[in-house]
Amino acid sequence: ALLNGTARRIHVKGTSRHLPSIIIIGAKKCGTRALLEMMNLHPRIRRTTREVHFFDRDVNYLNGLPWYRKRMPFSFPDQLTVEKTPGYFVSPEAPVRIRAMNKDVKLLLIVRDPVIRTISDYTQVVMTRNQDENDQAEDSFPQFEDMVFDVNGEVDTSYKAVRTSIYARFFPTWLEYFKREQIHVVDGENLVTNPFEEMRRVEIFLGVERILKPSNFWFSEEKGFYCLRNENGDKCLGPSKGRKHPNVSKEVVSKLRVFYSPFNVNFSKLADINFTWLV
Ligand code: A3P
Repeated sequence: ALLNGTARRIHVKGTSRHLPSIIIIGAKKCGTRALLEMMNLHPRIRRTTREVHFFDRDVNYLNGLPWYRKRMPFSFPDQLTVEKTPGYFVSPEAPVRIRAMNKDVKLLLIVRDPVIRTISDYTQVVMTRNQDENDQAEDSFPQFEDMVFDVNGEVDTSYKAVRTSIYARFFPTWLEYFKREQIHVVDGENLVTNPFEEMRRVEIFLGVERILKPSNFWFSEEKGFYCLRNENGDKCLGPSKGRKHPNVSKEVVSKLRVFYSPFNVNFSKLADINFTWLV
């Protein structure tokens, strides 16, 4: 009982803060929060709730590892600490810095259909801007098409929502600093439809006891996504996870599919994975 809810802040005897031995490095909008919360169902795993942005932001990194460790949750010596900051995946500095902390760290990269990821990223930007300027109507922001294509109608790779979905562009740097076996690539599409199966693979990769059961996941018709269940009760992710996407025309989607296709093939080869949607 001491470990649930706000009581978790209490420093339970025998626990201390540990640097993470597992990091979810991204990618943004691919289901990083769902993955983190699902991992947290496992009694051997403890997570940071907030994104720490230690390795990708100089202001934080310059504070050194003691600063980083202070942001970690209290855990028992036999528990594993996990942190997730999706910004790490696209950060040029993060791989070398993470290696300097622990060359044996276990990394998780979750990816999903790059076109859907781009739409999700755009949606997030629109929603965040709407919150900031809440008197402005949603339609006063540029349409998706106007953001992803440049004046010549070419896919605009200077737009971050487009760039982040080019997994093959960022993955090689991680392979320079880490062994391929240290990086587990999670299928973000399968995590949506089949969380138990995907989490079983995560347990195997982490080498932890296979404790999660199909009954830890239940489909909420209301949310339209799987939610979590354990002895503390039922929990769905917040309203910012599983947002309604704007309608994007078939033509725009197929133009983006053509654009991403060679990068997907390349990423598939580099990572030696074969997700059905990664074609
Ligand atoms: P959308 O809100 O665009 O649908 P991240 O946590 O990395 O920001 O990713 C957010 C995405 O996680 C959501 O994008 C959603 O599709 C996906 N997701 C995967 N499993 C989910 C779940 N069980 N509940 C809610 N969202 C989930």
